[in-house]
Amino acid sequence: MDINRILRETFVVEAEHREELGSTNDRAADRAKQGASRLPLLVIADRQTAGRGRGGNRWWTGSDSLAFSLLLESAAVEGKKDTPRFTLRRQSNSRPNILVGLGAGVAVVESLKPLLGNEEIGILWPNDVMAAGRKLAGILVEVLTDCRTVIGIGINTNNSMSDVPAELLWIATTLLELTGKRQDHTEILIALLNRMEEQITILKRAPAELAARADALCLQRDKPIALQQGRKTIAGLCRGIAPDGALLLETPNGLRSFYSGTIIR
Ligand code: BTN
Repeated sequence: MDINRILRETFVVEAEHREELGSTNDRAADRAKQGASRLPLLVIADRQTAGRGRGGNRWWTGSDSLAFSLLLESAAVEGKKDTPRFTLRRQSNSRPNILVGLGAGVAVVESLKPLLGNEEIGILWPNDVMAAGRKLAGILVEVLTDCRTVIGIGINTNNSMSDVPAELLWIATTLLELTGKRQDHTEILIALLNRMEEQITILKRAPAELAARADALCLQRDKPIALQQGRKTIAGLCRGIAPDGALLLETPNGLRSFYSGTIIR
């Protein structure tokens, strides 16, 4: 990993690369608590022993996969200056949080697409990145109590499917499996971080434009899906992603917008 190139060629101003961490999101949050002031800060780990996914799930960090988190100033992801300050909490499902996750999803798709030839790649709302029908990358956005934002991204890059845990065998894929080639992590990070900077700029200027980009990449459109919200399951036909980042579902009660929940089918 060429950290100096990443610092030179992206908007990241400080980077920490470790062989092993529990979770890069936790490390980024710790750095925020310790008063990290040179932001955006990038935290990368070759191995995570306690990688976390959304909804309290674990994230499998396969050997030779890419796991990193970006710690951003709240201002970097807030809307226009004259709009009221968003009140965000860690793990909250508030709207700006959804848009940050969608922006990260767009950045991941746009940066990996050139590596994949004709293979289909897109987003499952809120922010799973799928290629050839399987999960290629996951995104975990967490807003800290001081409103700084951690965007954690795990990408199955050079990890081999032969190491994949049995329960993920039919769910996950890797760039190595799809392309037959090992990919350069520095190149991927530079492309992705530059796309991320673009998305953050769009988010500040025109959030609906970011949502429209995510909508164009949404793989659930016009498919029957079910959303779990606590004990409730809402089934409907997906009508894509709304300008504020909500999932649009056509239900027996009409077209409804959802801001949180887990897609279960
Ligand atoms: C999901 O699909 O549920 C989200 C997975 C996010 C995984 C990444 S890996 C880097 C960062 N550190 C973590 O502990 N999680 C995120």
